[in-house]
Formats: sequence, structure tokens, C-alpha cells
Amino acid sequence: MSIKQVGIVGSGIMGAGIAESAAVHGFEVVLRSRSQSTADSMVAGLEKSLAKQVDKGKLSEAERDGALERLSAVTDLGALSGCDLVIETVVEDLAVKKHLFSELDRICGEHTILATNTSTLAVVDMAMETGRPEKVCGIHFFNPAPVMGLVEIVRPLTASDDTISSARAFAEACGKDAVEVKDQAGFIVNALLFPYLNNAVRLLESGVASRDDIDAAMKGGCGFPMGPFALLDLVGLDTSVAILDALYDEFRDPHFAVVPLLRRMVAAELYGRKSGKGFYDYHR
Ligand SMILES: NC(=O)c1ccc[n+]([C@@H]2O[C@H](COP(=O)([O-])OP(=O)(O)OC[C@H]3O[C@@H](n4cnc5c(N)ncnc54)[C@H](O)[C@@H]3O)[C@@H](O)[C@H]2O)c1
Repeated sequence: MSIKQVGIVGSGIMGAGIAESAAVHGFEVVLRSRSQSTADSMVAGLEKSLAKQVDKGKLSEAERDGALERLSAVTDLGALSGCDLVIETVVEDLAVKKHLFSELDRICGEHTILATNTSTLAVVDMAMETGRPEKVCGIHFFNPAPVMGLVEIVRPLTASDDTISSARAFAEACGKDAVEVKDQAGFIVNALLFPYLNNAVRLLESGVASRDDIDAAMKGGCGFPMGPFALLDLVGLDTSVAILDALYDEFRDPHFAVVPLLRRMVAAELYGRKSGKGFYDYHR
């Protein structure tokens, strides 16, 4: 199926990033936020991000203008009815996502593919909320979506080959490398990454080394572009706890059991970059 118009539900870190990637690569994008003020600030954020790319010479002014023209921000979910593909990027909470899938199934045209950007949750649980489980899959972008080169295409037991190949074609048209993975918590990247991030917090909590030394060690010793605490702040500590909880629920492996410090930081609303403070302070 050829995808032209893409709906994005959720205007957080990932919604904004995926909307930008898709609009820059020629797709018509309808971005749905729950409030007009969030929709407006999201468009302002996208304008800023695109302007930066023009300054860096990565995008021409005409390409920026084209991307902005292809983008519209709405609050009514009904505005997504004509989309060929809808990707949800709302909070990592299965109940919220299941409810959204049943709504999207009711609203969207029969041909629409419904996808989730979940990091860990079972895609089949969302598929079974709809009357079109064969047209549901995971399209898992990474953060920041306009920059990161990978997309995981997640195949639940219910998905058709057509759905998976359309999702792959969309990801590739956004300039990404696509890998296909079964519908198992954490897919490839997060199943490997999150035990590492959790163990970094464990090291810090037990006083083995400081935040700065652990981050410096993993950058200098492993060649990673950023250390685990900078990465946790980028992902969002609340999202990270939700991901680890979903991994623990699936596998019951102690490596996935959230380290108490991480959970306490979320309780204190220290979410990382998005709240201005996490392991690092971004107000300074
Ligand atoms: N942050 C990352 O690094 C990352 C990477 C890949 C995938 N993901 C996944 O993408 C999804 C979104 O993550 P994010 O980092 O953009 O989160 P975020 O906290 O930045 O944004 C979440 C969005 O969900 C909305 N929301 C919250 N509660 C809602 C509700 N009850 N109904 C509808 N919308 C609601 C919020 O208003 C916000 O727009 C999650 O499934 C997450 O696992 C995140």
C-alpha cells in the first residue's frame, strides 16, 4: 500500500520527532495533540528544529518551507480519518494505548494502517482492540527521531505481510534503516539497552563511582556517544521506568527490576531533559 498521509497521535518527544522526519521526507502529516496550546507549541518547536537544520546546511529553505506546509496540527482525533497510516506516540501505558486503538479503529478508514511507537508493550494487545488486527504493527523510531538512523518494524502474530512491507517502505522513505523483529518486550534495542542503563543506576546508587565518572567511562571505554545518565535523561526517566516495568513483567528477570533510585527520581518528577532536571540539571 502506498502511504501519503500520516497521522501522529501524541505530542511529546517522539511525536514531534516522527512528525518532523515524515514531513521532511515528503509525507503529509496530521499531528494530533489533546490541547490547542500543546499543538501550537509543538509546531513552534518544529519550526525551531527545522530552522536549526537550515542553519547547519542540512536542509534548504525551500525544503523547510515544504515540510511546514505539509504539516497540520489538530486537536480532533476525527481529523485522522483519511490518513493511510496513523502512528501513536502517547504515554507508555497499555490501558491508554488500548483505548486509543479502539478509538482509531472506529474513526479511521478501512485501509488505514494503525501503528504504535511503543518501546516495550505487546503490540498484539493493541491489535486485538481493533477490528483490523492484520493492519496493526509497531513502527519503533528512536530518540531523537530526525537524527537516529534505525526503525524497528514490529510484527505481532496478527499482522499481514502487506502491513509489514508498507511499514518498512514508510520507514525507509523517512531515510531510516529498518529491521524486523517479533512482538516481544523490548524488541532488539531496548531488550539489550535497558539492563545496561538500569545497572548504571545500580552502580551509582551503591557508590561504586560518580555520575560523571560512569558517563565518562562508557564514552571513553566503549566509544558510546553519551554515557548512561545522559541517555536516561534524554529518553525520560518516567518512560525508562515504564520500559523496565514492561520488560520485567514479560521476563521476570532481575536485571529488568527497576533500581529504587530511578523509581524515586520519577516520584520526585525528575524526568530528565523534558522536566529540566534528571541526573543532570538543564536549567543552568
Ligand atoms: N523517549 C524515548 O526515547 C522513546 C524512544 C522510542 C519510543 N518511545 C515511546 O514513544 C511513546 C511516547 O514517548 P515520549 O518519550 O514521546 O513521551 P512523552 O512523555 O514526551 O510524551 C507522551 C505524550 O503522551 C500524551 N499523553 C499522556 N497521557 C495521555 C493520555 N491519557 N491520553 C493521550 N495522550 C496522553 C502526552 O500529552 C504527551 O503528548 C512511548 O510509547 C515510548 O515508550 C520513547
